[in-house]
Amino acid sequence: MSIMKIWLRLIMIILAMAIITGCSTGPSNSKYSTFFENFPETRFLIFSDPHFLSTGLYDQGIAFQNHLLYKKGNLTEYGPEILDALTNNIKEVNPEFVLVSGDLTNNGEEKSHLDFIEYLKAIEDSGVPIYVIPGNHDTENPYSRQFTGNRSYPTPTVSRGEFLSLYDDFGYAEAFSRDKWSLSYAVEPIGGLILIGLDSTVPGEGYGYIHRETRDWLESELIKARNAHQGVILFMHHSLLEHFSGQDGDKEMRLRNRKELLDLLLNYEVKIVFTGHYHALDIVSESKGAHKIYDIETGCLLSWPFSYRTVSLNTEKITVSSGSLDIPDISAEGRELSYNRIFRFADSFLSRYGVRSDDREKIASYVSEVLLNHYEGDEEDHIQPKKPEHLSLLGRMALFAGRNYYAGRLEDPEPDDLSLIIDLRGATGSPQP
Ligand SMILES: [Fe+2]
Ligand SMILES: [Fe+2]
Repeated sequence: MSIMKIWLRLIMIILAMAIITGCSTGPSNSKYSTFFENFPETRFLIFSDPHFLSTGLYDQGIAFQNHLLYKKGNLTEYGPEILDALTNNIKEVNPEFVLVSGDLTNNGEEKSHLDFIEYLKAIEDSGVPIYVIPGNHDTENPYSRQFTGNRSYPTPTVSRGEFLSLYDDFGYAEAFSRDKWSLSYAVEPIGGLILIGLDSTVPGEGYGYIHRETRDWLESELIKARNAHQGVILFMHHSLLEHFSGQDGDKEMRLRNRKELLDLLLNYEVKIVFTGHYHALDIVSESKGAHKIYDIETGCLLSWPFSYRTVSLNTEKITVSSGSLDIPDISAEGRELSYNRIFRFADSFLSRYGVRSDDREKIASYVSEVLLNHYEGDEEDHIQPKKPEHLSLLGRMALFAGRNYYAGRLEDPEPDDLSLIIDLRGATGSPQP
């Protein structure tokens, strides 16, 4: 064989190897495509923390007005109008399905659950399936009460078993797998896409915890989905990631073993988890090597900005958008109403510690503005509230003591909170144009 022929053969071999190597970096070998290969394009909607209180459980007396003070901006008395607006919105958007990430009721009242379910039935009757999971307020709640005049009385709450049968039509009956140890389940809302509703609640407690047995169940579902090359999305009530610095210090509200759950989800390259609980529109992410997971928090439906999310999903990308309900009676003054409610709470809290009224006014307006900016998302795009000045010594001490509550919420880590595109062929998320 001539040197020329040997040379040509060598070039052919190198070319063939280059083609084979080139193919191996494509979808079949890409670690980011394994979870999202075999399902049609879909679009769904998420809302969270509707905190519905049955209209049969309160009047306009002092007891109910006092109760509203502790609701951090929730416009509880507008629940029916807000759910009507949501129902109309869902009919207009016409998503393939809807997720509700917990805190369905004010304080787990049985009557509130029954009335809330009537709204869910109306949405499902229009052809849109709904999947729910419980929040910390929804079961075995010791604060389940009704309000009459200047008094409140206990009203029945629901057990875990009762929650399961009440919401049978909204996830549990359709589930192909259920965890024996919690109210977690897995469904396949469209072929090839697995939706896992993870119950992060501990009955009667504000904090969350995922038990060993539930993690084992979750892992077995993730293995099955990976082997079948199915896409997986999770939704749960408590935050998976820290949404603002200091959140992990909130022992009574955080998911206490969130890092164990995070490790598991990172190991299986889960990309998105939808959460609620802290009532804000906020997105944060965490990476392990080249893999990145997003915690997409949706705000409380019952307070400004009456937010919801829509998500479009295909094998190439996940597109997250946010919307704000238009509620005919209150939208124009919605921000002011939520602001006033937070302000009144902060003001009465400070008065208990003897802070004088001019200091209370400055601190309460500052804290209300910080909290609403956080609820609205993309905090840096809003005007930063002016820090209270010329405070008395007690006022300065009160502001310092409460810094864990507001300081972290002034910052907004990447990415953007209101819209996001996650490239499923790469590891990064980028804001929508
Ligand atoms: Fe909530
Ligand atoms: Fe909650």
